[in-house]
Amino acid sequence: MQYSAKVMDHFANPRNVGEIPEASGVGEVGNPACGDIMKMSIQVKDNVITDVKFKTFGCGAAIATSSISTEMIKGKTIDEALKITNKAVAEALGGLPPTKMHCSVLAEEAIEAAIDDYLKKTTGKGLEKKKSLSHDEHHHEHGE
Ligand code: FES
Repeated sequence: MQYSAKVMDHFANPRNVGEIPEASGVGEVGNPACGDIMKMSIQVKDNVITDVKFKTFGCGAAIATSSISTEMIKGKTIDEALKITNKAVAEALGGLPPTKMHCSVLAEEAIEAAIDDYLKKTTGKGLEKKKSLSHDEHHHEHGE
């Protein structure tokens, strides 16, 4: 399977690249298998993510998934953002090759890590449980 036009677009023109100074929350996650790293910072106001920026040192799919996930969570509440799964991110990109699904897991984890950081800073308590660590997307279908 080839990359969709949308993947190529977000890879070539990633949205919301950078870092938010004095962000409400910052999350950095990595995939030990490939060594790729994704860092996401969020600005939160009244429980809504008003701004988000990312920096990804990683493969094209990781860059595309982080780019589109910033668009997906911007303007969303914390709860809504937490419901976004790596599958939804991949679908928004028009699909990913099966061997690249794990790259989208990084995006889901980065969102979660940034929110976790935000919650720890504001409430002193992070997320109850990290959902993405409890499931394994490695043998994910998503072939088409
Ligand atoms: Fe590492 Fe894509 S190969 S995130």
